[in-house]
Amino acid sequence: MSRPAVRALAPYVAGTSIEEVRRRFGHARIVKLASNENPLGSSPLALAALRSADRLNLYLDDAHEALRERLGASEGLGAENVVLGHGSNEIVNTIAQTFLDPGDEVVIADPSFSLYRLAVSLVGALPVEVPLLDGVHDIERMLAAVGPRTKAFFVCDPNNPTGTVLPAVAWDYLFERIPPDVLLVIDRAYAEYLDAAGFDIAQLVLGRGNVVVLRTMSKVYGLASLRFGYAYGDRESIEWLQRVRLPFNVSRPAALGAAAALDDVDFLEKSIALNAAERSRVTDELRARGLHCYPSGANFYAVTVPIAAHDAYEALLERGIIVRSGDALRMPGRLRVTVGTREENDAFLAALADAALGTQA
Ligand SMILES: Cc1ncc(COP(=O)(O)O)c(C=O)c1O
Repeated sequence: MSRPAVRALAPYVAGTSIEEVRRRFGHARIVKLASNENPLGSSPLALAALRSADRLNLYLDDAHEALRERLGASEGLGAENVVLGHGSNEIVNTIAQTFLDPGDEVVIADPSFSLYRLAVSLVGALPVEVPLLDGVHDIERMLAAVGPRTKAFFVCDPNNPTGTVLPAVAWDYLFERIPPDVLLVIDRAYAEYLDAAGFDIAQLVLGRGNVVVLRTMSKVYGLASLRFGYAYGDRESIEWLQRVRLPFNVSRPAALGAAAALDDVDFLEKSIALNAAERSRVTDELRARGLHCYPSGANFYAVTVPIAAHDAYEALLERGIIVRSGDALRMPGRLRVTVGTREENDAFLAALADAALGTQA
């Protein structure tokens, strides 16, 4: 029999797969806008590097010194400020295993990325969830939820599932008030899509300490299947994480692909530009149809629907479009939709109109 914390766990639910929809409806063409993946595919430089992957019979140099140094340098930090992970999801789990004891409290926004609750609960710590205010982290109320048992404080920015971004003043407010002994975890899975950083990572890491900033190459670099994430942090936090993470958690192909993707400035710029143009085109259109979208800084947006989110999700599925129902993301009345190519976004807009969800302007 499993541990009580495991039995109490609601499993992580991933987005619906194309194969599943094909089995159910038999559509020839299915558009998946459910998991915030890059619609342009993967960085071509990363794919080329992966084709040359060799020595898979050998364990690799698990320190990844050069790659960590490079990632650190891009933010004015050193290799000692970087830990790598099998996707940033793994680092969330490692954070929980490294820093949390049973009974410790962790302040999290609600709704936010569901993995935080899962990882925290699994080690017997207690998520203290503070509702968003107008779709945005309510930093004041989150700070008010910090008590003597608070061990960590999570901020997801841009927030999944709302796409919302904290303004620079909110970061300043947070940094001035959060107690120094509370570990601050900032998840920036969508950082590359942001217009402005909002805060200086090096200043935060070197100035405050007790901080971990999560990043991933799953999103804008199009490497979700490769599993490569990383985190910045003060030397001490990173040392603890290095001690707890599994040996060889980043494979040789993952390291190779990630390093090549970092060189792929063309792909990065193209992906960011497409996302920015299409995100504003589609959300403008949705607003013109009388639907509300939170302002998004990511590669997805959260839009209202006039019927139950699950029913809207099903109506779109029948039409070959996969999105995420807000019902599954603690965001009732909304869908979370990834920004696709122009053609994919048009297919989504047409299916929404066909299902009579939203009034045409
Ligand atoms: C906020 C957030 N963090 C982390 C991840 C997962 O990243 P990775 O693929 O690096 O594990 C996601 C993916 O959806 C996300 O939305």
